[in-house]
Amino acid sequence: MEDKRLTELDILLETHIDLDRQGPGSSEMTLKAMSFIENLDGIQRAADLGCGTGTQTMELARRIKGRTTGLDLFPEFIGVFNENAKKLGLQDRALGTVGSMASLNHKFKKNEFDLIWSEGAIDSIGFEKGLRHWNGYLKKGGYVAVTCPCWLTAERVPEVDKFWGDAGSKLDSIGDNIAAMQKSGYSFVAAFALPEECWTENYFIPRAEKEEEVIKKYAGNALIEAYVENSRYEAELFAKYKQHYGYVFYIGRKM
Ligand SMILES: C[S@@+](CC[C@H](N)C(=O)[O-])C[C@H]1O[C@@H](n2cnc3c(N)ncnc32)[C@H](O)[C@@H]1O
Repeated sequence: MEDKRLTELDILLETHIDLDRQGPGSSEMTLKAMSFIENLDGIQRAADLGCGTGTQTMELARRIKGRTTGLDLFPEFIGVFNENAKKLGLQDRALGTVGSMASLNHKFKKNEFDLIWSEGAIDSIGFEKGLRHWNGYLKKGGYVAVTCPCWLTAERVPEVDKFWGDAGSKLDSIGDNIAAMQKSGYSFVAAFALPEECWTENYFIPRAEKEEEVIKKYAGNALIEAYVENSRYEAELFAKYKQHYGYVFYIGRKM
């Protein structure tokens, strides 16, 4: 039955809230990024910005003895995050809270964190802008670890550029992003690209299964059909041009 009151945000939430991840990634890659951080045992305060329902935050919280705060714009994701933390017995170490990663002053103190994590989210506010803002909330010597979609080769594929541009994300090269990190008050520690299955098995496939359910549930709803078509186009673009772009993990240290 058609439901005209649905918005794109409703569809995004309904198609993502039950997924393990709300974007490309994997626990293996989260652990690989953690391996670049010295003295993980000494971390007292960590934040995961744009945490979604928090699969990667739980990986952090399992290994960090201090407190990890997950921050996301959507209360629905934070609700699931806090339920998951409880189920895993991590509620004393991982706490989800609603807020914007673009205005950390509403939630946190300057120089509060030893570690700021963020997977699949910084591109929505801009890589350099985000890193500059977050720098003020890290202690000196604290780490930042983020994934961001970027170009992997010198080719600039116009369809990919347009798709991501229309979604509000500008793709830069790895070199440009490392330079942006260095200009924003960090020393560069490491960068590595996420493998293909982080996109496909871990994100596009479960998302497509959920979208099939939602299409059936709201049969005939034009907004849902357009939304799902756009998702399918995203997956097709990736299948066609994956050698030229992808998510890269960047790890830096506040100077
Ligand atoms: C692609 S999802 C990634 C979620 C999760 N980190 C993961 O890897 O599965 C991006 C997340 O960033 C959140 N987000 C986007 N803009 C935000 C903002 N300004 N402040 C906080 N969260 C934001 C979204 O709600 C969403 O949960």
